[in-house]
Amino acid sequence: MPDESAPAAAAAPVPHKRRPRYSGKNPRRFEEKYKEHDPERYREAVAKILASGKTPAGTHRPIMVAEILEVLAPQPGEIAADCTLGYGGHAREILQKISPGGHLLGLDADPIELPKTEARLRALGFGPETFSAHRSNFAGLPQVLVSVAAVYDRRKSAKKMRRSQTAATAATGADLILADLGVSSMQIDDPARGFSVKHEGPLDMRMNPQRGQPASAWLQKIAPTALAELLAENSDEPHAAVLAPALAGKSFSTTRQLAAAIRATLPRLGPDDADLTVRRVFQALRIAVNDEFSALDTFLRNLPVCLNPGGRMAILTFHSGEDRRVKKAFVAGLREGVYAEISPKVIRPTAEEIHGNPRSAPAKLRWARRSGAAN
Ligand SMILES: C[S@@+](CC[C@H](N)C(=O)[O-])C[C@H]1O[C@@H](n2cnc3c(N)ncnc32)[C@H](O)[C@@H]1O
Repeated sequence: MPDESAPAAAAAPVPHKRRPRYSGKNPRRFEEKYKEHDPERYREAVAKILASGKTPAGTHRPIMVAEILEVLAPQPGEIAADCTLGYGGHAREILQKISPGGHLLGLDADPIELPKTEARLRALGFGPETFSAHRSNFAGLPQVLVSVAAVYDRRKSAKKMRRSQTAATAATGADLILADLGVSSMQIDDPARGFSVKHEGPLDMRMNPQRGQPASAWLQKIAPTALAELLAENSDEPHAAVLAPALAGKSFSTTRQLAAAIRATLPRLGPDDADLTVRRVFQALRIAVNDEFSALDTFLRNLPVCLNPGGRMAILTFHSGEDRRVKKAFVAGLREGVYAEISPKVIRPTAEEIHGNPRSAPAKLRWARRSGAAN
């Protein structure tokens, strides 16, 4: 939470940063793509990359923005929580709609990307009254809402503000909540984070590299039976029984070493099936290393207390393990009267969006509305 009472610091001179050196005409490596890492400055170059259906390095393209805005229906003065802030694409759109008078809490587990996103949103003019960034797992949303309310309450009494002067005084509950699950393109595309099947990098996969253990250490410790169960549960892996004994307890320090071992274990698979299998194993490992399902289960359990009466909630999922959990929680909430309404069916991206951004293809959107009348 930024110190909102501190005076703005005088602009420090920006130190000169030498452009990364690369061989050939165009940069190929993630860290060398300096134009893509600075889309505001190199708009034309970045527009060409976007038009080709690719995601510029170090950025993320928000998915199903129009659909999400329609179901969340953000209004001026409302409190919003973007529980997976990422690059801030959805947050930026929501911030525009809740201004003036609203406040968006942006949560993300990633300590590397969060400060960059906070700086980008600040540079767009969203000050601390309107936007606060929180390095937090979304399982801790209730605590974050309480901490924000406490800050505003202290300031309110210090400045003797009337309740109507700041919407964020009511931040113990949110009027709208968004979660766009999984990893961002910044995380996937950066070889140093070790999520990528495509690039060589350390086998890490942690959204927060300051906590827990990297995928390499995790794989080394797990027993074959536990790994077989996990591959089936986390990514519906049909070859789980064969893959588990070949991978569990082994030491793979890099992404390519693991991918090669998966392919070598299933030599009869065609290239497309082998690629899909590698992707599924990577997904299952990522879910396990980041304990994604237990965070999602806690989040879904906490949601009703985090939403104000009449509040709206939207969740974007990217595989069946996530979607099953969201659907089950929403259906149970509707039955128990916690939710007044839920999405009658899943909403998918348009063919046009999938064509323009193939990474949107697996997305599924579900929404729910908390029972009770809005304030
Ligand atoms: C798909 S990206 C979100 C992109 C974002 N909507 C945008 O428009 O840029 C998912 C983000 O959620 C974060 N994340 C995933 N699981 C999380 C969790 N349990 N708690 C907090 N952040 C999480 C990831 O670090 C990543 O930045």
